[in-house]
Amino acid sequence: MEKTIRLDKYLADSGHGTRSEVKKWIRAGRVFVDGQPARSADLKIIPGTSRVFLDEEEILPQEEFVYYLLNKPAGCITATEDRSARTVLDLLPPSRRNLFPVGRLDKDTVGLLLITDDGQLAHSLLSPRKHVAKTYYVEYTGILTEQDMFRLASGLDIGDDRPTAPAEVRTAGPGAVFLTITEGRFHQVKRMISAVGCEVIYLKRIRMGRLTLPDDLPEGSWRKIEKGDIV
Ligand code: URA
Repeated sequence: MEKTIRLDKYLADSGHGTRSEVKKWIRAGRVFVDGQPARSADLKIIPGTSRVFLDEEEILPQEEFVYYLLNKPAGCITATEDRSARTVLDLLPPSRRNLFPVGRLDKDTVGLLLITDDGQLAHSLLSPRKHVAKTYYVEYTGILTEQDMFRLASGLDIGDDRPTAPAEVRTAGPGAVFLTITEGRFHQVKRMISAVGCEVIYLKRIRMGRLTLPDDLPEGSWRKIEKGDIV
């Protein structure tokens, strides 16, 4: 049998108003279902089949979860709220959903950040057991020798209880490398680069699992994506 849902819940879930506001709109005759004015809030809607309008605007069914790919700019923090600093959520359209960033980028780090309300997907992307690859474009000061590259790739002591897991390092021009890691330790890239005597001066995440940062997505901009783009 097709899944049905009450009209007031359908409208409230769409983020247009609270349950009591949408009830008022229904009473005021502003809501139409399949071409007819809706008479009661408990009218049964079949999401994806019934056509619901508020005034002239069609109200589409609520997606179960949403996924935003953000090109995080420097200067905003990876948190859901903060007393003084701008957060990554401030860059997205206002939403009633419980959105949160998947993992963390430092305030001065830019690039790919996934924001969603899908806790299960976030959990599996962040699980240490999944070894999800994250690639960073890193600019640094100092000299990175062949031997340093080898140490970065093999795993090295960054002051934790165990060395870093093997990584992939590739030159990206003078003073720059692409570094791919499968862990997500605090300040991991900066600490790895510092462990070989250099210092990160610019850090940008360009890949996480199957997701890559699109070239045409400017810093501070976001794009809605599908779960299928991620896993
Ligand atoms: N590693 C860091 O040091 N900083 C980041 O923001 C991400 C990875």
